[in-house]
Amino acid sequence: MSTQDNNLKWKAAVIGHPISQSLSPHIHNYWFQATQLKGDYQAVDVAPEGLKDTVGWMKADNFAGFNVTVPHKTAILEFMDKLTPLARRMGAVNTVLIGEDGKLTGFNTDGIGFIKHLNTEVPDWPKDRPAFVLGAGGAARAACLALLNAGVPMVMISNRTREKAEAVADEIGQGRMTVVDWKHRQDAVAGAGLIVNTTTLGMVGQPPLLLDLTGAPSDTVVYDIVYKPLITPLLSAARNRGLRIVDGLGMLVHQGAAAFKLWFDKDVGFDDTLRNQLLKELGEESGDTA
Ligand code: ATR
Repeated sequence: MSTQDNNLKWKAAVIGHPISQSLSPHIHNYWFQATQLKGDYQAVDVAPEGLKDTVGWMKADNFAGFNVTVPHKTAILEFMDKLTPLARRMGAVNTVLIGEDGKLTGFNTDGIGFIKHLNTEVPDWPKDRPAFVLGAGGAARAACLALLNAGVPMVMISNRTREKAEAVADEIGQGRMTVVDWKHRQDAVAGAGLIVNTTTLGMVGQPPLLLDLTGAPSDTVVYDIVYKPLITPLLSAARNRGLRIVDGLGMLVHQGAAAFKLWFDKDVGFDDTLRNQLLKELGEESGDTA
């Protein structure tokens, strides 16, 4: 406790635009309580032109670091003194560590969060069959890379804008990614052990992702990174079909845990109390996703 009192570095934040909807302050402030650190994690709305100033005052104010979300994950790169190989490969940073010397290191923990949540929820997910990822934004990149690193034989990727899927396959595919035309995405369902939605389809206010799961083998796992609503129409259809499902909340929490470890060197996790708090924030009635 005395170390704590003499140390001003228990501060972190998330920067984005907009940011008011972010769950990250709930998550990190829960962990501050759980670890008995007198810390503070805030959400800071930063317009693109305000990035430089924000980085400056956080350094001056002894922040341990900060998370970066839409739309700054790529723009923040120019302020980094160092990048991890993964962040460099992703071309995107979601976590920044401010060193004792004021130097900034950029990390990307999205893929870690994605795979940690999957391994926790469905430890025996079919790693020996191809995975099928829908979407080609930053989240898709993180998911594809994490799946390739986890050893899946192939990742099929499909995106409305085909060129973006091709770019992901070229840049991170290691010869183990194939592009499926958006019009033909249905064809990929039967051969996939894992189906992952990283598009915004199914999110509150968005149309659902249209994908018929009838032909999916019974051990297929369906993962939707959308968490508002927690059970998207895709997950609901998968559940009705008897498939195992993974919702998007844990990815957010686990990438946050990786950041908390980097900043404060504490191991934290996703327990039921935190889950229920977040569900309440989201206006969800129950934590039952099984
Ligand atoms: P993130 O970086 O969080 O993954 P993003 O870069 O905005 O977010 O990506 C959103 C994804 O949802 C994209 O793959 C996008 O497809 P396009 O690349 O064609 O834009 C996909 N998406 C959004 N709305 C869609 C829609 N109505 N139909 C199909 N795909 C959609």
